[in-house]
Amino acid sequence: MKELIAKAEQTHTLLRGELIALLEDDGNLDAISAAADRVRHKFVGDEVHLRALIEFSNFCKNNCCYCGLRRDNKKLTRYRLNENMIFNLAEYAVKQMGLKTIVLQSGEDMFFDCDKMCAIIRKIKTLDTALTLSIGEKTAEEYQAYKQAGCDRFLLRIETTDKALYERYDPGMSWERRRQCLEDIRSAGIEVGSGCLVGLPGQTIESLADDILFFKQIDADMIGIGPLIVHPDTPLKGAKNGKFELALKVMALTRLLLPDINIPATTAMETLAPDGQVRALQAGANVIMPNVTLTEYRQYYELYPGKSSTNYSADKTLADVRAKITSVGRCIADDKGFRKRVFYCR
Ligand code: 5AD
Ligand code: SF4
Repeated sequence: MKELIAKAEQTHTLLRGELIALLEDDGNLDAISAAADRVRHKFVGDEVHLRALIEFSNFCKNNCCYCGLRRDNKKLTRYRLNENMIFNLAEYAVKQMGLKTIVLQSGEDMFFDCDKMCAIIRKIKTLDTALTLSIGEKTAEEYQAYKQAGCDRFLLRIETTDKALYERYDPGMSWERRRQCLEDIRSAGIEVGSGCLVGLPGQTIESLADDILFFKQIDADMIGIGPLIVHPDTPLKGAKNGKFELALKVMALTRLLLPDINIPATTAMETLAPDGQVRALQAGANVIMPNVTLTEYRQYYELYPGKSSTNYSADKTLADVRAKITSVGRCIADDKGFRKRVFYCR
């Protein structure tokens, strides 16, 4: 195992069987995390990029079996912010909190058609900020329009590369179409963010290895990885949560194989383990996305229960995040945090 970790650290490549061996072996999480931490330091430095997350609508036309926003969850109070409210939050995040990237996230809400989204993007881009969208599957033309309006990055997790599993848990959706969306985002000239869930019932270690290889194959610019957290108002009610340690290991291996990308310490990690984000920062992560959505709406953006910092104000969330970053000897970046490609032998 030591040799495999050294190979990953030096060459940033592993064969599928080698990845599987590392994922299956229980005893090597600390060594993989430490190697990922060194690679993170070498390739992207000690700065942590903060991205202000605005959850602007929790309406969703999809019905993903794991997600609290799924359309069949009638218990959820739905909300959508208007253009002014979204802009005001973005302005506060940029001007008062000093954040350099705005992330607009929502369910797949048909109310926000392409024209409405572009108007919002253009308005936010009058602030000196990078802009990320996380609003689901769109057409190639729509991604191009977002780019023209000023969108810099797009997050669309593949969730799992196991097609059968994906189509079982995301009913009515097509894995091929999702993969095509990632290609369309890239072709539009937008930075590509993807990622996966760890711990879906029926998910195999082999498919997690494939997920990591997929991220490398599509040359992702950002990868977000989080454990599944079971939501009681979904068909996965009663299933087991994903394991924090396994999610952390998948993230650390992703850093080893994609050394120069941006990797967030995800909220789901923090929700499953009290020091989850700090441990992620020490195992390859270099991004945190503090939530700046107003407290009154945050409670309704319930992808999963206990979503960390749900009841905190934007300022309290940011203060907590700063404390975490400095506690592990890291600093906050003051640029917009685009991927800086480092050329290494792939
Ligand atoms: N647990 C953990 N993550 C979840 N997501 C959705 N539902 C859950 C859950 N129950 C993640 C998905 C989605 C992202 C926005 O949130 O991976 O892409
Ligand atoms: Fe909608 Fe995304 Fe939740 Fe699926 S994971 S139901 S697409 S918000």
